[in-house]
Amino acid sequence: MMTYNISIDINNKQNFINPFLYGSFAEHLGKCIYGGIWVGEKSSIKNERGFRIDVLDYLKELELTVIRWPGGCFADTYHWLDGVGPKNKRPRRYNLWWKQPESNAFGTDEFIQLCNLLNSEPYLAINVGSGSVQEALNWIEYCNSSKNTEFAILRVQNGYRKPYNVKYWGIGNENWGCGGAMTPEYYADLYRRFATYIRQQTDSNVKLIACGSNTDFDDWDERVLKNIQNKYFDLVDFISLHVYTGWNIEQNTLSEKEYYKIIKDITITKNKIEKAIQLCNTYSKNKNIKVILDEWGLWYKEATVDNGLFQEGLLLDAIFAGLNFHLFHSFSDDLFMTNLAQTTNVLQSFILTRGDKAILTPTYYLYKMYKPHKGKRVVKVNSNLPKIKLFDDDVEALSISSSISQDDKEIFITIVNIDLEKDYYINLSNLQNYRLIDSLELTANDFRERNNFINPDNVKLVKKDITDLNNILIKKHSVNSFLLCLK
Ligand code: AHR
Repeated sequence: MMTYNISIDINNKQNFINPFLYGSFAEHLGKCIYGGIWVGEKSSIKNERGFRIDVLDYLKELELTVIRWPGGCFADTYHWLDGVGPKNKRPRRYNLWWKQPESNAFGTDEFIQLCNLLNSEPYLAINVGSGSVQEALNWIEYCNSSKNTEFAILRVQNGYRKPYNVKYWGIGNENWGCGGAMTPEYYADLYRRFATYIRQQTDSNVKLIACGSNTDFDDWDERVLKNIQNKYFDLVDFISLHVYTGWNIEQNTLSEKEYYKIIKDITITKNKIEKAIQLCNTYSKNKNIKVILDEWGLWYKEATVDNGLFQEGLLLDAIFAGLNFHLFHSFSDDLFMTNLAQTTNVLQSFILTRGDKAILTPTYYLYKMYKPHKGKRVVKVNSNLPKIKLFDDDVEALSISSSISQDDKEIFITIVNIDLEKDYYINLSNLQNYRLIDSLELTANDFRERNNFINPDNVKLVKKDITDLNNILIKKHSVNSFLLCLK
């Protein structure tokens, strides 16, 4: 039996793993907000001020660093004033993109309360497609101002004395598509209008995010960044990308070939991020523009507008997320934030709800498992790993990411085995000065295993029982973690 040596070179510390890489995205879409997070104070489902208690408790455990809201495509139809003030006076609207009623019971104040309850940073997306610069300025005043002016006063009248100090503001969403089907030049001009006034109104704590592209576009990002440049103002802090994987693949009939295709397609994400980083370096004026991936994840064929983009979660999803995080860690100097789509009931979510039941997806467990990476530094791994064929390429069957705390006292290692056929054995014995304090494993009999309302615990985190660091079993299609502490 072959054992593969994994040697962690603690003298080779690399980039810092920004905790903002572990963010989420909650849109007014399907049952993400209504039913998934918010049920209202009068609901028979146990709630705290309208928020589902079960979901809150689960989300608290994930320690999500940032949540993006209110969309998505919804953002460029959303008029924030509809969602503040007495609930019985809030207008009912129709959610254009997601074809559902919008009660406006969940608005800015509820979103900020959610972030406060979860200890997450809010990230708001401004309506550029059907909104105005003035509406955006008023929203920022409502959220952030302590002056004696109309919208700051309105917030206080609504019962929220302290400004929210929202730092991250996206200027539109997918403005090449649902956000107005604009050309990059037209969007760049609009961006300049919005950003010029917002910069003037706010302090340097407010960070502005330009709408970048998804994988359908080659030159949107460059044309946007180039055209935002101007003589007078430095207007961009971040450019955001969207990358969805799995579009034409049916979750219910997934083949092994499709499993490997999904894994291979992570190189599309890699190339997209790499290219955006290069452009940021080219077009940064006085400061460093960074990249945000504010929507990513698996989008199977089953998730359609008719079912509110609902899909169940598979073990594959967790494997996919684990591999993506290994990629994100490696970019973490230039990739500032990522937001998995979406928080509950929509696409690759953490939690699925049905009535008063809430179940956890494999992706939930992956996020939970990877928490110790946050805020550590990537540390180099030297190894000679087994290879498998991924279509035309030979790739390593084990993907590894390792990080170390600032004081060197803690090392955290995550290992994903993408192989559907083989288990492997590894050796972590070069860490003689460290002792293993926790080790977890996420796997199942098949990569298609899922948690649903009949079998909610098919896939869950289990503790690994390790007696010998020289000989650790890494099962096929599994995600594994090792937390070590200085002796
Ligand atoms: O996450 C679902 C949708 O995907 C978002 O509303 C949109 O931005 C993207 O196309």
